[in-house]
Amino acid sequence: MMTDIADSPQATLLLAATPGDLARAGALLRAGQLVAFPTETVYGLGADATSDRAVAAIYAAKERPRFNPLIAHYGEVADALRHGLFSTTAARLARAFWPGPLTLVVPRAPDCPVCDLASAGLDSVAMRVPSHPVARALLREVGRPVAAPSANRSGRVSPTTAAHVLGDLDGRIAAVVDGGDTQVGVESTIVSCLGDRPVLLRPGGVPREALERELGCSIDTVPVAGAASGTSPHDEETPVAPGQLASHYAPRAQVRLDAASVMPGEAALLFGDPLPGTANAITSLNLSPAGDLAQAAARLFSAMRALDLPGVTAIAVAPIPDTGLGEAINDRLRRAAAPRPADSFTA
Ligand code: TXA
Ligand code: MG
Repeated sequence: MMTDIADSPQATLLLAATPGDLARAGALLRAGQLVAFPTETVYGLGADATSDRAVAAIYAAKERPRFNPLIAHYGEVADALRHGLFSTTAARLARAFWPGPLTLVVPRAPDCPVCDLASAGLDSVAMRVPSHPVARALLREVGRPVAAPSANRSGRVSPTTAAHVLGDLDGRIAAVVDGGDTQVGVESTIVSCLGDRPVLLRPGGVPREALERELGCSIDTVPVAGAASGTSPHDEETPVAPGQLASHYAPRAQVRLDAASVMPGEAALLFGDPLPGTANAITSLNLSPAGDLAQAAARLFSAMRALDLPGVTAIAVAPIPDTGLGEAINDRLRRAAAPRPADSFTA
């Protein structure tokens, strides 16, 4: 029988990426329990996507204030293709980028088993086939779609190690599968394929340029949430992609973007050459001394956690180019820097 995780804390099992432990993790998921697992982007907090009750437990564990739609993760491309209605464009993107860090939003197929709570009552469904071998092995073990937001408490920085997951969710979830550091480091790119033209809902692990090259056309972007104003372009009750809302991925310290120098009392998040004043920083980390955006994306969330120390007034962030994976990195940094209205909702 399932217990209410909010009421009765449970010890969280730390599982390894071995066949025996993956079988155990798969059995827990099939039984409606929460299991965090590595993907190539960030760790996901998994639940059986066909069970409203299992998916509801995700919201309780994350303390996520509202029912945002979640991504259904598949071990097999063919299963995802059966559960959605794929336009020519959607099918082309799936063929080119799955398995991989791309999420496609498509109309639900008539017999799509993803429960209403996982898709927040929408008649569309967000799907992704991760490339991480541990994720794929686990998803094949489960044999059903697995709903999985990032495995952090709501509003916190996304986890890229099993230790990050335990730091946020120990005692609130049944298990976490340790697959080491994630490689991409930022969440999947989300493309909506509901209308005539594909729309980029969230920049992520597949750079926009790669999508546009595949399709031979430019991809529209939903206007990014006003990070400065803290407003959303969407009605908050019917979000297109709530992950776009401002004030998300937030460390406790203030975040100061495009810093030209580091001020006393600040921590420094560098990219390429150190900024003037770095020697006076409380602490500093360089996302990529050589200026490599893939390396910077992989280190981003770990670095934000590591710099978010007591006594740090702000994290000064060096300018980062907005091309390739830089678009996703800058998107996450703008959210981390955005004002944090009490009512903002976060994933
Ligand atoms: O890399 C990732 O995508 C990670 C790993 C764990 O797979 N997952 C992740 O999930 O970032 P989450 O829940 O943090 O973000 C899901 C995003 C939200 O912004 C949500 O609004 C959007 O997907 N989404 C889900 N279903 C949707 C739908 N039917 N229409 C539009 N947006 C949707
Ligand atoms: Mg998230």
